[in-house]
Amino acid sequence: MKKRVLGVLMTAMMAVGMFAGCGPADTGAPADSATTETTTDSGSTEAASTTSSGDTKRVAVAMPTQSSERWINDGNNMKEKLEALGYEVDLQYAEDDVQAQVSQIENMIAAGADCLVIAAVDSSALVNVEAQAKEAGIPIIAYDRLLMDTDAVSYYATFDNKGVGTAIGKYIEESKDLANTDESYTIEFFMGSPDDNNAVMLYNGLMEVLQPYLDDGTLVCKSGRTSFEDTCILRWSQETAQQNCENYLTGFYADEKLDICATAFDGFAYGCKAALEGAGYKVGEDWPLITGQDAELMATKNIIAGSQTMSIYKDTRLLADKCVTMVQAVLEGAEPEINDTEQYDNGKLVVPSYLCTPVAVDKDNYKEIIVDGGYYTEEQLAN
Ligand code: BGC
Repeated sequence: MKKRVLGVLMTAMMAVGMFAGCGPADTGAPADSATTETTTDSGSTEAASTTSSGDTKRVAVAMPTQSSERWINDGNNMKEKLEALGYEVDLQYAEDDVQAQVSQIENMIAAGADCLVIAAVDSSALVNVEAQAKEAGIPIIAYDRLLMDTDAVSYYATFDNKGVGTAIGKYIEESKDLANTDESYTIEFFMGSPDDNNAVMLYNGLMEVLQPYLDDGTLVCKSGRTSFEDTCILRWSQETAQQNCENYLTGFYADEKLDICATAFDGFAYGCKAALEGAGYKVGEDWPLITGQDAELMATKNIIAGSQTMSIYKDTRLLADKCVTMVQAVLEGAEPEINDTEQYDNGKLVVPSYLCTPVAVDKDNYKEIIVDGGYYTEEQLAN
């Protein structure tokens, strides 16, 4: 579509309540669907990390969900690396249920955890249980997602979350040559969960790149939904993303194609893919540019097949390495590597952080980054 036509389109069409976004919290899976896994590696070759009484130190790892592959990898990496150092590991998944995660952490404290590593379901919902941990002298490390409104957190290991958004924005900018084109492109946004600080940071990074193109009409969001509030999706729900995309396609794209799905998560990209297939879009013909995050195995396969354009590769092995150094710091008095002491203010303190670097991957570089980097094998990607 040429830019000139734009002014006439848009706005009036907004249908309130048509799109599921940041509605009231739904509780997700029942508490009893959350899972627990406790292991001890007594056969570790490294010097076992022990308490003064000689007992093996216990690190409890609270993960948000197994519904997305990345968190399964995160949990496995953490368990493996901590056990290799001789720690006992209590790994639990809350299946996106806030209350289940609170109960799990209470149980971890009661069971005598020496350190808590937490990737929160809802970053602000753990304040009381975090205070209990502090009271019991148990240090807390925030994993990937910042723990908000608490002074009980010692360190934070994550990726550069604003950088994730910037990388997605730049990918769109370069792919469509937004700085030079005379064309305009239609775009819709699918942003992360409002109770996850990462989601807001990603949105800010993305819009730092794309807002000027929305302002000058190079990008056209026909639904008019460009704010974080209008585009965030509670608990990163794939189903909601699919539903939103279906509604956008029906409501705004009957006469004109959607060119870009700017999504913040591979799960959203899967949801958009399903909606687009349902609406008759075809890969290699009118298929939009679809972004994602995490470079999940399925997403990487979709990138190879052309039904997803790019993702953000986050090497969870590296994240686990950095997090483990923080665990060692609080338990053994070692010095963790920190590279950010400014960005992550949780409302109570600026949490000393290590930010790993996110990398955009697509069809052209996935071999070099993902396969040569040993993240997935060619064989895994072929099956
Ligand atoms: C993580 C992302 C992930 C998302 C959904 C965020 O907190 O940083 O990597 O895609 O949660 O699980």
